[in-house]
Amino acid sequence: SRVVRVALLGCGTVGSQVVRLLHEHADDLAARAGARLELVGIAVRDTAAERAPWVPRELLTDDAETLVRSADVVIELIGGTGTVRHLVLAALDNGASVVTGNKALLAAHGPEVHGAAKRSGADLYYEAAVAGAVPVVYGLRESLAGDNVNAVLGIVNGTTNFILDEMATKGLTFDEALAEAQALGYAEADPTADVDGHDAAAKAAILASLAFHTRVAIEDVPVTGIRDVTAEDMAEARQAGMVIKLLAVARRVTDNGTRGISVRVHPALVPATHPLAAVHGAFNAVLVEAEAAGRLMFYGQGAGGAPTASAVLGDLVAAASHKVHGGNAPRESTYAALPLLDPEHT
Ligand code: HSE
Repeated sequence: SRVVRVALLGCGTVGSQVVRLLHEHADDLAARAGARLELVGIAVRDTAAERAPWVPRELLTDDAETLVRSADVVIELIGGTGTVRHLVLAALDNGASVVTGNKALLAAHGPEVHGAAKRSGADLYYEAAVAGAVPVVYGLRESLAGDNVNAVLGIVNGTTNFILDEMATKGLTFDEALAEAQALGYAEADPTADVDGHDAAAKAAILASLAFHTRVAIEDVPVTGIRDVTAEDMAEARQAGMVIKLLAVARRVTDNGTRGISVRVHPALVPATHPLAAVHGAFNAVLVEAEAAGRLMFYGQGAGGAPTASAVLGDLVAAASHKVHGGNAPRESTYAALPLLDPEHT
């Protein structure tokens, strides 16, 4: 029977769950993909570090470059925009499909990464990069490909939603809530990206690019994080029948007759009766307003090992299936030249 060779880059919270599920569901995944998914190596920084007991030590390597060259599909869960960028580009140049959860890379170097995929005919999948298990990338790129999206409003960072929720409901301080978020594996190793809104801004850039068929980069997204949200702000909001949520907002706007888009991330007062107010803990939700479809809500676990691994494995099955049966992942259409307009003036 056929075999698709899979390389995993990174074996942290999400990666180790990918290894577990790949092993536990090997037969089902093979049946769905039309090929056995053989994990041929796991690239990590420190091969001697302690790992989950199910991670096969003999697959560990610190030579990601060699590993990438031997795979049909590369799963990238290292994150960041450093050397990982070269690994992803090398994989794509080599014709390997890439499945990534790396929002920072896509939001900073989207044109370069998508361009490499297009050039070599390789497939690029990134459902795990936005809102963990929630299939919002697929929803925007494929389900809504025939509609016109007018707005995307999302709670796309689990850590900050968890922190704001704990502050609001349990009266925890910001630091106590952050420590809990880290213990539960929601926050990134360096929580700055979560707390200061950069993780949400990267996701906003990706969602806006998909929604409006254009390229928005993270540097285009004005961002305010939640560091300055206080217990008093929480109490005031509650008294006014509101909750405070960190929102990623992308919408079509018109300014003095010029049509464009506005994309930003900021803490917002949301009426307690609004569907986004009911999103608790590390859950994410993305509300989409489309011309014909009307309002849609994508909701689910936006962070954490197993939920994010679910998105990775879905992409892996699609990637492997295309390797075996032919065809490609959908190419993104970024034909629309929409200026980013200053939201203050809309
Ligand atoms: N740290 C991120 C979050 C994980 O809290 O949502 C997913 O990007």
